[in-house]
Amino acid sequence: MTLNWKDGFTIPTSRLYPFQWNWDSGFVSIGQSHFRLDHAILELESLFSSQWENGMLPHIVFHSENETTYFPNHDFWDSNVNPGAPLNPKSSGITQPAVHGFVLENLLNKFPNDEQLVGFVKAIFPKVVHYHRFLYTYRDPEREGLMFIFHPWESGRDNSPIWDDSLDRIVINKDELPHYERRDTSIAPSDERPTAEQYDRYVYLLQLGKKYQYDQPGIYKESPVLVQDTMMNAILIKSNQSLINIGKRFKLDTGELEEWQQQAKRSFAEKLWHEGLQTFASYDLRGGHHIEHKEIGGLVPLYAEIASSKQAESLNNYLQSLHKRGFYICPSFDVDSPLFDSKRYWRGPVWPQMNWMIYHGLNYYGFKDTAEIVKNDLIELVSKLGFYEYFESQKSLVNDLETGYGGNHFSWTAACVMDLLKT
Ligand code: GLC
Repeated sequence: MTLNWKDGFTIPTSRLYPFQWNWDSGFVSIGQSHFRLDHAILELESLFSSQWENGMLPHIVFHSENETTYFPNHDFWDSNVNPGAPLNPKSSGITQPAVHGFVLENLLNKFPNDEQLVGFVKAIFPKVVHYHRFLYTYRDPEREGLMFIFHPWESGRDNSPIWDDSLDRIVINKDELPHYERRDTSIAPSDERPTAEQYDRYVYLLQLGKKYQYDQPGIYKESPVLVQDTMMNAILIKSNQSLINIGKRFKLDTGELEEWQQQAKRSFAEKLWHEGLQTFASYDLRGGHHIEHKEIGGLVPLYAEIASSKQAESLNNYLQSLHKRGFYICPSFDVDSPLFDSKRYWRGPVWPQMNWMIYHGLNYYGFKDTAEIVKNDLIELVSKLGFYEYFESQKSLVNDLETGYGGNHFSWTAACVMDLLKT
């Protein structure tokens, strides 16, 4: 983390991700608090310096406009098509999981009497609420209590097979797509990265967002990708709850949060559990059906404490069976699906921040043994392979590997491992 610290914020890793990423910074802040609470605070302050007038908190903050090794860079996003997007720092036009509420509560629980922290939390509280307001207003036009995403990059699980069918709806006309040059495949091996066909579709959706200034109703009307994602909504609910707890502690107004929370919890329970698969499953609003896959987002409701005890038991059994079958838990995608790929981005490998959330969720429901496995699996992978972005999930393959996958010296990997070792 110190290596990736850039005077006020932390990049996920050099070269591959040279700017500040939204939910990465949340986890990094938790890690930093173990040795530099002032940096933990600055990290979140820098992130919120990019907040839009409508409340949106962008997924990338381009603090430096001279860094040209990343695509899509600030010029391609052109987020100032929206008059409420700050001119400085520049940012992307989409968001990421709303971790900030629970991050603040995590910091407060660690340092309840630190005056600087308490002052900071009180000052940033309305900004975080404003961000949630954006999600429940612009991303929930039917007022269901569940937000939608229109770009897989918003979900944090960029290349998961759960987006495949939605992306297949997009017909690419090369003449209409602006010319672009990917940078990721010249830095990381292409068999660990999304395919060219997928990338064209990511750019298509970016263009669609831009056409509607990233917040207009045209997105809801037109986007071929329109999903009420399990993880995005579970994390939002977790953070709602943290903000309610914080608000009560400091006597701040929590009325609006409580209204959102009541409706969100009810809708989540009613709409996103898939009885046949025995997991939570995201809902494809465009197609009008669940996205029928077992994948790691379906486990995050454990962390949000919104699974019933029976549902939690099913999820725990699922994790135990994967463990017995020789997988590091938890693989990001269904190991029995033909779409499982233990090496490729979000299609099978293990991701550190997911283990962190699932560990806490399992503990909450009393599945202490499984929680310990989730924690120790991550620690074993990092000890064997280094602080990588993500990891092989099949134990039999790990013996022949010397590294993890994606970027090395990865910030949230360090942050999550450090925090897990200290809890
Ligand atoms: C990838 C991940 C995303 C993360 C970003 C930076 O895009 O899918 O979740 O925020 O990298 O680490």
